[in-house]
Amino acid sequence: MQTITAQLSAAFAKAIHAAFGIQADAHIAASANEQFGDYQSNAAMGLAKSLKKNPRAVAEEIKAKLDLAHMASEVSIAGPGFINIRLNPTWLATQATSLASDPQIGIGKVSDPEIVVVDYSGPNVAKEMHVGHLRSTIIGDAISRVIEFQGNNVIRQNHVGDWGTQFGMLIEYLRKQGFTGGQLEIQDLEEFYRQAKKSFDDSPEFQAQARARVVALQSGESFEFAAWQDIVVETRKSYQPVYDNLSVLLKSEHERGESFYNPFLAEVVAELKLKGLAVESQGAIVVPTEGFENPLIIEKTGGGYLYATTDLAAIRYRVRELHANRIIYTHDSRQAQHFAQVFQVARKAGFAPPEVSLEYAPFGTMLGEDGKPFKTRTGGTVKLKDLLDEAEERAQKIVDEKNPELPEAKRAEIAHAVGIGAVKYADLSKDRTSDYVFSWEKMLAMDGNTAPYLQYAHARIRSIFRRAGERGINYQPGNIQLESPFELALGKHLLKFSETVELVSRELRPHYLCTYLYELATKFSGFFENCPVIQSEGNVRTSRLTLCALTAQTLAIGLDLLGIGHPEQM
Ligand code: ARG
Repeated sequence: MQTITAQLSAAFAKAIHAAFGIQADAHIAASANEQFGDYQSNAAMGLAKSLKKNPRAVAEEIKAKLDLAHMASEVSIAGPGFINIRLNPTWLATQATSLASDPQIGIGKVSDPEIVVVDYSGPNVAKEMHVGHLRSTIIGDAISRVIEFQGNNVIRQNHVGDWGTQFGMLIEYLRKQGFTGGQLEIQDLEEFYRQAKKSFDDSPEFQAQARARVVALQSGESFEFAAWQDIVVETRKSYQPVYDNLSVLLKSEHERGESFYNPFLAEVVAELKLKGLAVESQGAIVVPTEGFENPLIIEKTGGGYLYATTDLAAIRYRVRELHANRIIYTHDSRQAQHFAQVFQVARKAGFAPPEVSLEYAPFGTMLGEDGKPFKTRTGGTVKLKDLLDEAEERAQKIVDEKNPELPEAKRAEIAHAVGIGAVKYADLSKDRTSDYVFSWEKMLAMDGNTAPYLQYAHARIRSIFRRAGERGINYQPGNIQLESPFELALGKHLLKFSETVELVSRELRPHYLCTYLYELATKFSGFFENCPVIQSEGNVRTSRLTLCALTAQTLAIGLDLLGIGHPEQM
């Protein structure tokens, strides 16, 4: 099934061609003011300029050639030359009916699937994940799910920070402590890391030894390599449960940490030199980039590669080996310059040919209620694990109060979905580019644009079907009728789901989906309060139950795409 926008666009393009003999973009958008219609095109205004004609006259000519068959009940011209379309309720009802029998609810699998690499999460080894990694992890995961649902081949890549000079000091520190392998714990590692850093900063002798350890590690010496592996394995043990708890689809097979690219770094630098892009500067190897004051450093003075070198190798690998058509990064906006420079160099070097799209989807900072970056009361970094535990505890209290009659295990299950869902949704529902304030009260509220509100809306619809069953009503999907304004509003909104998903996939902004779902739940409320469902009869009841089922399914799929649970009961 094509989206309404796509169907209208095609009809407009035909009309423009018939009227003026040219191919032009129709610019269809959902109308900002429903009073004027459901969709609007501003094509006439753009065309008027190039045709040197009056825009209203151009609009009239397009309108005269426009063949919308049964789609529209009214086409009108407004203002300087907007063409407004009011959709025909009967046509909308047939569209909604076919949506209800489609398991993908209108999201056809793309005809030309792309290979899309999504680089997200990227925690750092020897450190526990903190809230700073939360945004990358859940935004990247939602984006991956959406693009995958469209039928593309998504390759998740967890670019773990598992390589670099910090391992030299860590290994040197462990060696001094008489470490012989095995016995490591993440909490200890964090402490070791602090101690190692201190020794490194204080003692030139330690520094020199740490550097020697890096060299030994990079050339695969057994002690260093084994110690490094122990550290990596131990850290992974700390973040995998966080992913599982968050229902984030990252597994160990998606992990391609910085160390993976180590064997390619020398080649990358050589290739950049050969192409005349890399030059020597004060002993280091750098690539000058346009629009930036400093060049991109790819090899340090005295040897050693950098974060940027690894990212260049990663792009090269993703294009050459993974055959990516699109490479997406969801990382902190503080890395904007890094990615801009890396992308520029990757283009010039041909690591990323022009047909491969490189996209950086940055996000702002998570703030505490004091408006400052989110910290513990004492000013420390908040560990992700503690934050998620608190979310579940808080949700558990709410669920226990609301549903004391449910068995304990059920309540725990709901609390998990609500607590984790609330944290994820609070983040995903904001435009990612801005900072946002983390507030327990707001995210756990049962009304407003929150996960619990949507989960409750979904559970409430599921309960309608349980009640129907108890009354012996055997539900079978049937024809949808959109008679009352409430049914019509709900039906129209249901038909916008696929457009919303396309928008999220294109602009990499999950909050469009959240806003859509919130509006869906609101429109459903309006419908449910005004249109009796179980109390009605015959075709009307079938139609309304089908609308209920389609709404529940859309909410469930929408929440799935955000990686948020939707319990049957709440
Ligand atoms: N480890 C990095 C950090 O904590 C994130 C990795 C981002 N991905 C990348 N390809 N550079 O900031």
